[in-house]
Amino acid sequence: MIRQRYAGRVASIEVSGIRKLFDAGGADAINLGIGQPDFDTPEHIKDAAVQAIREGKTGYTPNAGIIELRSALCSKLERENGLHYTPENIIVTAGGSEALHIVLQALVENGDRVLFPDPGFVSYAALTAVAGGRPDGLPLDANLHIDVEKAKEMMDGARVLILNSPANPTGAVESEESIRALVEYGNDHGVTVVSDEVYEHFIYEKRHFSAARYGEDVVTINAASKTYAMTGWRVGYLAAPEEHVEQCIKVHQYCQACATSIAQYAAVAAYTGDQSAIGRMRNEYWVRRNLLYEGLRRIGFEFPIPEGAFYAFVPMGRSVIEKAIEHGVIIVPGDAFGANASHYARISYATSRENLSRALERLEAIVGD
Ligand SMILES: Cc1ncc(COP(=O)(O)O)c(C=O)c1O
Repeated sequence: MIRQRYAGRVASIEVSGIRKLFDAGGADAINLGIGQPDFDTPEHIKDAAVQAIREGKTGYTPNAGIIELRSALCSKLERENGLHYTPENIIVTAGGSEALHIVLQALVENGDRVLFPDPGFVSYAALTAVAGGRPDGLPLDANLHIDVEKAKEMMDGARVLILNSPANPTGAVESEESIRALVEYGNDHGVTVVSDEVYEHFIYEKRHFSAARYGEDVVTINAASKTYAMTGWRVGYLAAPEEHVEQCIKVHQYCQACATSIAQYAAVAAYTGDQSAIGRMRNEYWVRRNLLYEGLRRIGFEFPIPEGAFYAFVPMGRSVIEKAIEHGVIIVPGDAFGANASHYARISYATSRENLSRALERLEAIVGD
């Protein structure tokens, strides 16, 4: 038998409650548990990858990413987000996940407090713990938005504030006023803001505001994963002041070397090519959001309309969640996302309208039981 001795900061974190659901359910299960687009990557992006392979672009790339991609990302950040960066401000990473990891490794000292929305994306608390920091969840208001005044109180003495708008798991989109207030207060008090914007294109009525517009000490995290239906390609990036990049690149260099060369060439095609697929996906998510929201309301669930991403976060009794999963409607219990959410479930609508309608029928039967 192996004598086990593991690092406490790793042993203390749990396997993601969502990964466990990846293969959940029987043959006729409807999986509304997974946070990835059900669309295929657009053809011109795949073609660029195939071409890169044929041209032998298969070796290591510069650590920070190929210059074509970093330049394309600077243009994208200027055009879509009103942010001014040069390629020296960008590190291309293996998805948004790696960008979050390296930034927390670089910024967080042992015992530093890291704030993030609670309930929030599963990685924030876990990556903070792996970095030796102290995860500290920000409670949300009744509409699932960050309570700005409460957040300000909690920011004193904290090292990092992670923002995520549109948010996973809540679907909440923060207002410009909230984002501005949080960034300005944080930066004034020595708190670096890490803004995870991977769902920026999937907003249905409101608008997206990038946190980096309102302060200097902001790291923007983003990825091709959700925007271009490229979760498996593993391309993301961070954009940050050069001082941060100098530290983050060391972690990236030693743990990753570079993002996959082929995926980087594909990402150049994604960011510089035809963008119409994004609008098509957004429209389809919007139709599904409405179908799901109206269906759940009809059955009797009361909750604020999801404003973005592709999730509904629905108050449900634990027994309803368990029955849903038993009846093949795979949804994620809210406690996977933090301490304040055990009576909620996250329902992903990144699946077909037919699946959503079938899931609603089953939920209606369960609730009516
Ligand atoms: C809020 C949020 N940030 C980051 C990620 C990570 O994305 P990637 O697949 O690019 O690593 C996800 C994936 O689910 C997410 O929901």
